[in-house]
Amino acid sequence: MAQSPRIVAALDVGDHRVLALIGELDAHDQIVIRGVGLAPAIGMRSGQVVQLRPVVAAIKAAAEEAELMAKLPVERVFASVAGIFISGRLTRAVISMGAREREVSFADLETLHDAVRRQPLPVGHTVLNVVSPTYALDDQDGILDPQAMVGRQLAVDCYVLACQESPVRTVEKAINEAGLEVDEFLFAPVAAADATLTADERRLGAVLIDIGFGNTGYAAYSGDKLLAAGSFPIGSNKINDDLVHRFQTTATGAERAKREAGTMLLGDVGEEETISVPTIEGRGSHVISRRELCKTIRLRMQETFELIAAEVWRQIPQDAPCTGVVLVGGGAHLEGLAALAEEVFVKRARLGELEGVADATHLLASSELPARSPAVGVGLLVHARNLLLPSALPVVRDRRRKEGLLRKISRKVFAKGEVERDHV
Ligand SMILES: Nc1ncnc2c1ncn2[C@@H]1O[C@H](COP(=O)(O)OP(=O)(O)OP(=O)(O)O)[C@@H](O)[C@H]1O
Ligand SMILES: [Mg+2]
Repeated sequence: MAQSPRIVAALDVGDHRVLALIGELDAHDQIVIRGVGLAPAIGMRSGQVVQLRPVVAAIKAAAEEAELMAKLPVERVFASVAGIFISGRLTRAVISMGAREREVSFADLETLHDAVRRQPLPVGHTVLNVVSPTYALDDQDGILDPQAMVGRQLAVDCYVLACQESPVRTVEKAINEAGLEVDEFLFAPVAAADATLTADERRLGAVLIDIGFGNTGYAAYSGDKLLAAGSFPIGSNKINDDLVHRFQTTATGAERAKREAGTMLLGDVGEEETISVPTIEGRGSHVISRRELCKTIRLRMQETFELIAAEVWRQIPQDAPCTGVVLVGGGAHLEGLAALAEEVFVKRARLGELEGVADATHLLASSELPARSPAVGVGLLVHARNLLLPSALPVVRDRRRKEGLLRKISRKVFAKGEVERDHV
């Protein structure tokens, strides 16, 4: 049985776990999550495949679990990628439409989008995502869709995320070997932003931070535009490494101490409080100061936030409004982390809640999946759904990945007779 046109599927291949999600669009175009599959990720390091076979097995296991739960087959997925091999910048491309004023055609858009994709990049790099494009026609800025409007010169302003080709190609190979096709790759923090930022936050400015196992990624929006994005190969597991070294304990002991005794609110921890952790060879245990434990965790998180803040303030224009910080990812569960983010960014901070999906909580609830870990997966579903909506805006995408026949048919079925819009 082929994948139905109203089914969207996501694959978030993280360093810690692979998460597969299957969503179905209801009558109001809301995503209802039908299937969830989770498998421990072995063979991933800071977003890169370092051992292919176990990654293929994990993707297969997660996808099959989701299909079994949903009782729906999946052939194509939207997949996340993240890592230091991805970086971005604001870009403007311009084309002339000739000496006389005329209407902007679909072909003009294609030419303009090709100009974005052909911008010079370092050897071995390619364009991964072109985010929040807006158009300028002669002197008018901020146009969302210029088709059929009249002018002589057409420009696009967008945020271009470029990546080294080989790490992304290897993730794609792993997904293909697991029996799935990739519809589109999306930079993980951008996907997480699709799932958690409100429309007001995108407009008035917000920094989304995704704290995973091996990576911490960020995406800063203001004025409905992505203005800065990137990641550092420092995830929540770095805290465990710090604790192992500092307190001579095991990795498992460090993870447990972090989750059960860790807090960023040092004022809540008494000088005399102690906890017991396993010794490094794992046979005995020793007593350590809880305050020292929390200080070690805090230092790592403070440093991570400072790195991100420095990058965000370097990249976004000084006059761009920014109201706050939103935290997602498994690592966001540390007690008091939002308070620490407020201190470093000097902005309001909150934990991200999943938006745009109907009744996600009970299916996503699992002891293995902390509540903020699925933000990227859910964001991929939201992105996939938005592309199918008849009101979707023009998308700048790789011509090699141009809409396949199935997707075209699905959009036609989805649009229920409405005139199909042109997309790149
Ligand atoms: N309650 C908790 N307190 C603190 N940290 C937690 C808690 N629960 C999970 N984590 C941390 O979350 C991390 C996993 O996060 P997540 O599920 O987002 O990983 P991932 O997406 O696989 O990784 P990455 O995004 O780096 O590829 C682990 O390092 C784990 O220690
Ligand atoms: Mg992740």
